[in-house]
Amino acid sequence: MPLDAPRSQTTLTSTARMKHLFDVRPRVSEPYPVLCGEGPVDALHSVWRPEWRQAVVVGDSNTAALFGKPLALRLRELGCEVLELEFPAGEPSKTRATKERLEDAMLAARIERGACIVAVGGGVVLDLAGFLAATYLRGIAHIHVATTLLAQVDAAIGGKTAVDTPFGKNLIGAFHHPRAVLLDQAALRSLPLVELRHGLAECVKHAVIRDEMLFKSLERLTSFDDPPSAELILRSVAVKVAIVAVDPLEHGERRSLNFGHTVAHAIEAATNHTTAHGAAVAIGMIIEARLAVMKGWLPKDALDRIVALLERIGLPVRAPCAFDAAAPFFAIDKKTSEGRIQCALPEQLGVFGAHDGQWTRSVTLAELLRAWT
Ligand SMILES: NC(=O)c1ccc[n+]([C@@H]2O[C@H](COP(=O)([O-])OP(=O)(O)OC[C@H]3O[C@@H](n4cnc5c(N)ncnc54)[C@H](O)[C@@H]3O)[C@@H](O)[C@H]2O)c1
Repeated sequence: MPLDAPRSQTTLTSTARMKHLFDVRPRVSEPYPVLCGEGPVDALHSVWRPEWRQAVVVGDSNTAALFGKPLALRLRELGCEVLELEFPAGEPSKTRATKERLEDAMLAARIERGACIVAVGGGVVLDLAGFLAATYLRGIAHIHVATTLLAQVDAAIGGKTAVDTPFGKNLIGAFHHPRAVLLDQAALRSLPLVELRHGLAECVKHAVIRDEMLFKSLERLTSFDDPPSAELILRSVAVKVAIVAVDPLEHGERRSLNFGHTVAHAIEAATNHTTAHGAAVAIGMIIEARLAVMKGWLPKDALDRIVALLERIGLPVRAPCAFDAAAPFFAIDKKTSEGRIQCALPEQLGVFGAHDGQWTRSVTLAELLRAWT
């Protein structure tokens, strides 16, 4: 299926420095725009609806001050009542306990159903604040302002919201689509190099499952020390937008986006979330691709190119924990069905198809163990 191309020049609208490049059309809820560029304050103004009289700006201990404050200021200028909320940065905050604390603060501030949450940050903030929006007073509107590369190419789009539990990652959550997504390119300049690398892991995933040209573009890059070009980011975003449009609730093709994630989520849980998601995805893609090669489902050449690219980016390529530590978490992975572990495995670079109507393949613990090292 062809990728959703960026909107044509004739339909393209722009704020001061942000362009409306895609519409996500999830079918299960109303379409929403993805704006990309610099100047999220003006862009937020352009997507704000007059009926949202209250705003809740949610960020973490890094993003609230850096990016949330100017947005809150503009919303106040628009006449909104604004509540600013913040929690400690990092995956350990993505819990039911943090969500409860934010909910109580919103209830105490008499935030009503007509409010809109503005989530400002990386994937942790967007997942948590999106889930908050999904359940607060049975669901209110929210907007994503994505400030990490990982959030821009992946987490901001598609309506998956969740928190982690001691039993595993993202196990409690909901589908709840934002009303608009702003990809702030200027924010990437302050992003630590290691976080850029984590975002590139999801770009590689998109390339492997659906866009060989994107894979080749990544292979051609001579340095990974600066934010990737807007063109490269948008190519990666286009993969996510296209897949979410055909399968918003992950009944079929959207499962391809889980390439590397069965292993990644087990590693994250086994290491108590000290392994960052992007790093875990890099390792997970290698282990799952190796398993696919062992089973004869993926050519060895594809595995070699994936490993070489991830190594050049500077991402880890070996599991940070023993297999025995990760094994218990496979049983509770969301994709596990009738006790069988499921992996989303590509068949060539840029090609991912269903087999007997299934987008994932059953694998055994013994097979995963063989692929682990
Ligand atoms: N919902 C989805 O579809 C989806 C998809 C992929 C990943 N995720 C989730 O995303 C999370 C990972 O997201 P992440 O990698 O963005 O991590 P993150 O949100 O923890 O951000 C990484 C770090 O960068 C800081 N930061 C954010 N923007 C910054 C900026 N512009 N300048 C300086 N520092 C900045 C944050 O405060 C944090 O310390 C995981 O929980 C993962 O499960 C969700």
